[in-house]
Amino acid sequence: MYQTPPQTRAVPVNVNRQPSDNASAKVNGNALNDEQIYQWINELVTGTNREKALLELGKKREQYDDLALVLWNSFGVITVLLEEIISVYPFLDPPNLSASTSNRVCNALALLQCVASNVQTRSLFLKANLPLYLYPFLSTNARQRSFEYLRLTSLGVIGALVKNDTPEVINFLLTTEIVPLCLNIMEISSELSKTVAIFILQKILLDDQGLNYICTTFERFHTVATVLAKMIEQLAALTVSGANGKPVTGQGQASSNSSGRLLKHVVRCYMRLSDNIEARKALANILPEPLRDGTFSSILQDDIATKRCLVQLLANINE
Ligand code: TRP
Repeated sequence: MYQTPPQTRAVPVNVNRQPSDNASAKVNGNALNDEQIYQWINELVTGTNREKALLELGKKREQYDDLALVLWNSFGVITVLLEEIISVYPFLDPPNLSASTSNRVCNALALLQCVASNVQTRSLFLKANLPLYLYPFLSTNARQRSFEYLRLTSLGVIGALVKNDTPEVINFLLTTEIVPLCLNIMEISSELSKTVAIFILQKILLDDQGLNYICTTFERFHTVATVLAKMIEQLAALTVSGANGKPVTGQGQASSNSSGRLLKHVVRCYMRLSDNIEARKALANILPEPLRDGTFSSILQDDIATKRCLVQLLANINE
């Protein structure tokens, strides 16, 4: 039971733009030649104005592809970033994190995200186990904005790792139990954090080893399926209230777009689970009704790929 090797099927992957990733603005310049970068790094490591240095270096991230190399190889930089992160731990439990402290550590996290994104530093980043320092942030449950922002930015770092996933990344994440952390965020966090968390889960599922990991025990499969089902319930409730003729304001529009985005990921996660024979049998009984009865047909109207994915999912479980 639950050990059957999964069939693989190519599932279209939606590579989301991460919240703080600004790749499009990059000019592929050479950070090595920017004197200012060295001044800010110097300020970061030895100076008195570390907060400003974090902010300014964060801005440079948008300009240079190779900033990660400079950060990784400059003496003391990674140590300072870890120091910034660890200094926040005492405020996590009981939750007591000011907006400015959260902002400051998020600027440090943004620099780590840069290191996680770069193909030359990613592997070093993993080998040093640096993602583990973010797990205390991902484990928080407080709903205040300062915590939301902290979770979202931390997820952004993990998102950057899986965006260009390699077996090494997935393997790292599986051995460090990120899945339950993502599941918790999918339950308690804001829509944006939910989207990044489910994106990470989807990337793990798309990996054969990841699918095996989750379907190894019924309990794991069931935890994942339960959280997905809750998301479907929430999305269905939103869809129904939208269909009741409430005026669609600017805000309503935005939230219907983002529910579409969430739905897309949920459908793909279910679909991928159905590649596993045992999971497929279980899904035949527990797949939420709104996915079967056309509740989402208007949301999916223009999303042919997701519609096709849903059709395939239903075909799989009805086999
Ligand atoms: N230690 C738990 C396990 O290995 C971790 C876990 C909890 C988990 N919930 C999960 C893993 C859901 C995968 C899916 O089972």
